[in-house]
Amino acid sequence: MLNEKMKNALNKQINEEIYSAYLYLSMSAYFESTGLKGFANWMMVQYKEEMDHAMKFYRYLLSRGAEVKLLAIKEPPNKWKSPLHVFEETLKHEQYITKCINELVDIAEEVKDRATYNFLQWFIDEQVEEEENDREIIDKLKLIEGSKHGIFMLDKDLGQRQYVPETE
Ligand code: FEO
Repeated sequence: MLNEKMKNALNKQINEEIYSAYLYLSMSAYFESTGLKGFANWMMVQYKEEMDHAMKFYRYLLSRGAEVKLLAIKEPPNKWKSPLHVFEETLKHEQYITKCINELVDIAEEVKDRATYNFLQWFIDEQVEEEENDREIIDKLKLIEGSKHGIFMLDKDLGQRQYVPETE
């Protein structure tokens, strides 16, 4: 049986991951509306990955015989000042998600739930990668300093990102 505190925290994380997906879908729409289809593609891939993350928690809860309880998803913003602003907000959000994952690990340790502790290791690694990706794009955007040619080239580059479905 999954500990009650652990179960509630994992259910809350489904919500955090779906909100992440919602936020990135909103960012994708923003980019598309400003003509940056490559940036929009990058965010659309991110949206799909976040839904995969949510489903990992969803499936894990069910595999432990625990109840899945879906919570209300809050409304994400839909306007930003610039591509740099979008990615600064993305990094801030991912740093928050990293904090959430670390708190889940703390609970798993506290209640001595080794299976959940193991399950969470994938997310620990994933968060390192996500924050690194965001930082890389922020660095590029800072180098470009709003130059139209630079944004055009980066848009082409971000348009190459492809969604790879999770295999479980
Ligand atoms: Fe699912 Fe981007 O954290």
